[in-house]
Amino acid sequence: MATRTAATGSAADWSPESWRAKPARQMPSYPDPAKVEAATRRLSTYPPLVFAGEARRLKAHLSKVAKGEAFLLQGGDCAESFAEFHPNNIRDTFRVLLQMAIVLTFGGATPVVKVGRLAGQFAKPRSSDTETIDGVELPIYRGDIINGFEPTLASRVPDPERMVQAYNQAAATLNLLRAFAQGGYADLHKVHQWNLGFVEKSPAGERYQDMADRLDETLAFMAACGITAETTPQIRETELFTSHEALLLPYEQALTRVDSTTGDWYDVSAHMLWIGDRTRQPDGAHVEFCRGIKNPLGLKCGPSLDPDELIRLIDILNPADEPGRLTLICRMGHDKVEDKLPAIIRKVKREGRQVVWSCDPMHGNTIKSTNGFKTRPFDRILAEVRGFFEVCRAEGVHPGGVHFEMTGQDVTECTGGAQAITEHALALRYHTACDPRLNANQALELAFLVAEGLKTARAGQPRPAVAAE
Ligand code: PEP
Ligand code: CO
Repeated sequence: MATRTAATGSAADWSPESWRAKPARQMPSYPDPAKVEAATRRLSTYPPLVFAGEARRLKAHLSKVAKGEAFLLQGGDCAESFAEFHPNNIRDTFRVLLQMAIVLTFGGATPVVKVGRLAGQFAKPRSSDTETIDGVELPIYRGDIINGFEPTLASRVPDPERMVQAYNQAAATLNLLRAFAQGGYADLHKVHQWNLGFVEKSPAGERYQDMADRLDETLAFMAACGITAETTPQIRETELFTSHEALLLPYEQALTRVDSTTGDWYDVSAHMLWIGDRTRQPDGAHVEFCRGIKNPLGLKCGPSLDPDELIRLIDILNPADEPGRLTLICRMGHDKVEDKLPAIIRKVKREGRQVVWSCDPMHGNTIKSTNGFKTRPFDRILAEVRGFFEVCRAEGVHPGGVHFEMTGQDVTECTGGAQAITEHALALRYHTACDPRLNANQALELAFLVAEGLKTARAGQPRPAVAAE
């Protein structure tokens, strides 16, 4: 399948393997190429995880975001892991995403496009190739789809069979998510039940409870008017899309297929794929791979991104300037957002390109705590979100979305928040396989802040010329 030529549409001189002729950063070196070939050949015969039509539907939703008519909520694990694969973990992450979405929809009065970092977010870019543990230098952990977390030489050897295991885990995860989204769990009448035990008692949990009460009243009013779950399916079900970083290109290539209805190539491992901040070289393999697939794309924009280079990247990734095709996920850091983001936005506006502006307040705010944990101070995360909204307002663009790392579990990985997690407390429940995530409480607090930002942004918009007075 992966060797068929697309009939129409996809970029010239592109094929699912054309990335192989370009320099590829962050790629593992597998000791046995024959095993890689065997695993990817098998994967290329497996069923798609998502359908091209669904990816097109997400693109249509994102085009609304690009036009200022909706908001993108993208979040989930930094790295999914084989060890934490459990239905309760999937359920808890899903319900915090639902809670955040409802806070934004109700509080921000905006349609919310929900995209999980889920069902495939396994591969991790790293700052160095090795680490030293107890005096032994080991290859760095690159995510469960590549090697093992356990700090031994044997577990750190890249193993291509892990790609097959990751595919299977993604398939099972997606199956459950689809059931939750459409099988009644996401029914708006259940908003109270989405409040997890440990969140309920917190300030954000109480605020959520108040909002859920008001939503109940609204639903009762709507039912009295004849609008119920029976007449309006949007009340009883939701849509959740999946995304991950397109980092491990042999895996992505194996899951890239021609869509029979359009003749275009789609990477059917997820609805949306993004290019990381470390692999966004215009001449690099990751950009080459992504330019040829028709899925909606994300591009991480860190503080080192030059505005001219960004335009070059947009030319490559979205030559037809389709709204919804490209989401710029800005991750400047709380102390750089006001300095770096305006030039980026101005350049894109000047060139007249249609993009979604999203804020990742996580990856520019990672620090090492004095007791040695990789952490993120919650107030810096909030400060970057505030800075993002402020810059978007000043530059006259729609603050289109947020991208964050969270879990439904009661972890202690980011300091601060209403629970006031201290550096000392990080050791209590620090479970992440990679970056520190917001716990359910912090995620909900963040959602309330974003809802306020959205409300302010809407209030600041010029009123329609023929507003009914
Ligand atoms: C990530 O999203 O997990 C990540 C590594 O981000 P970035 O490429 O922005 O550093
Ligand atoms: Co991360």
